Amino acid sequence: MRAPVSPAQWNRLIDRLFDLAAPYLAVRGDMDHARVSHQYARLLLRREGGDPKVVEPAVILHDVGWSALEPDQIRAAYGVRPSGEEANRLNRTHEVAGAVIAGEILESIDYDRSLTEAIVTIIERHDSGDDPAGLEEKLVKDADRLWRFSKIGLWQELEKQGGIGPREYHDFVGARIETWFYTPTAADLAREEWARRAVEIARRGALT
Ligand SMILES: [Fe+2]
Ligand SMILES: [Fe+2]
Repeated sequence: MRAPVSPAQWNRLIDRLFDLAAPYLAVRGDMDHARVSHQYARLLLRREGGDPKVVEPAVILHDVGWSALEPDQIRAAYGVRPSGEEANRLNRTHEVAGAVIAGEILESIDYDRSLTEAIVTIIERHDSGDDPAGLEEKLVKDADRLWRFSKIGLWQELEKQGGIGPREYHDFVGARIETWFYTPTAADLAREEWARRAVEIARRGALT
């Protein structure tokens, strides 16, 4: 399929990708994560440039690979505290499985092959790769991490990860703003969101 050109066609394709990804994303409850990260990705694309035909599908599909793991494996692999060889191995599995599933989904809609290749390469290293090959990969990583600073993301992550309080989690992500993000736009957004979350956490604290 040739990449669509009109905004309406592109939005239809994005909706279709969300639909196709939904059963896989449901396994870890990642649909909100995919949608919020996709919104951040569009913002980053507008300010930083980059190819939406690579970045948007990659962000939507980047976590479909969690569906290849059992619930207890997901818990062992994910969060603030898990570390060590087994956590790394399981995290790696979600990247590798995700690349395969994303490739199948994109093939099923006859997506441009060279774009698909770029997308699955990014998905295959979206957590473990610390040396992004290009702007598109940087934007996917930044959009993925910005989720943790979003209103819905912060509270969902607290639930998913368990055993960590809002202030501790807020400190944890705040301490990483300077090193996590590849683009200045993402770091700026993270700082803005982080400040908003501080206000919300303080308000909740006052209510409880
Ligand atoms: Fe991931
Ligand atoms: Fe993610």
